[in-house]
Amino acid sequence: MGEAILRVRDIHKSFDGTGVLRGVSMEIREGEVVVIVGPSGCGKSTLLRCINGLETIDRGEIFLRGEKISGRRKDLHLVRQRIGMVFQSYDLFPHMKVMDNLLLGPTKALGRPRAEVEKEALEMLERVGLREKACALPRTLSGGQKQRVALVRAMLMRPEILLLDEITAALDPEMVSEVLNVVIDLARGGMTMAIVTHEMRFAEAVADRVLFLEEGVVLEEGTPEEFFHAPKTERARHFLQSFTYASKRDKVEIQPKNNAGD
Ligand SMILES: Nc1ncnc2c1ncn2[C@@H]1O[C@H](COP(=O)(O)OP(=O)(O)OP(=O)(O)O)[C@@H](O)[C@H]1O
Ligand SMILES: [Mg+2]
Repeated sequence: MGEAILRVRDIHKSFDGTGVLRGVSMEIREGEVVVIVGPSGCGKSTLLRCINGLETIDRGEIFLRGEKISGRRKDLHLVRQRIGMVFQSYDLFPHMKVMDNLLLGPTKALGRPRAEVEKEALEMLERVGLREKACALPRTLSGGQKQRVALVRAMLMRPEILLLDEITAALDPEMVSEVLNVVIDLARGGMTMAIVTHEMRFAEAVADRVLFLEEGVVLEEGTPEEFFHAPKTERARHFLQSFTYASKRDKVEIQPKNNAGD
């Protein structure tokens, strides 16, 4: 693992006087995958939204490669370009073909040559099994296909870090693994990521480190082995137990991030 890409220092965020983030600190190093889990409403989405500037913070600081990115700044759009984000809902432009959706950011915002981006986009579509969908309109794609396109679109912006917020939460179960395996592929390729998910088996497979957030504070932090097999707090044990039943039923096929030998 390399240098710290992202450093979050003691951030606080309230909505209408209610503290949603109450002193969160974390660090993500180059090539590291940090998975953030915790009960509904504990502040996971708010944390990711603060990191990429979709929400302002009340207190604390956020650094990207050592450069402070929180607080007022005129070039927020430039900072955001360096941080990729994919949400639960597919936010592809409905009237534009897949390829046009993919070309928009890199050509307009980054000013990269169209032909070069197109070539890279086709290679990436191929990698996620969607090369034949380049000319399709988003409405003709399944939810899982749309989320794979959304991942390709985020990656084409060459972000320094990718933030994923429950990107499979709206999908039918049979589509979950095809999307999660793309994420595992990105992790293997060395992409630095912060991932919020309720898919615990995926979390365990992809994470280098797990943060357990509860009521706006990091209650536990550890390796996936520590967190999933020997949680330190009663809260975390209770949280994990609520997934036991679901995991017996789920048919999600997840490949391990680290194959034997690498
Ligand atoms: N824009 C907003 N205005 C007011 N309250 C908000 C806003 N965004 C989030 N909240 C509140 O902040 C709290 C944390 O929300 P957040 O979306 O970060 O939770 P979460 O951990 O992502 O939950 P989930 O697992 O359900 O997605 C919730 O109580 C939510 O209602
Ligand atoms: Mg959320």
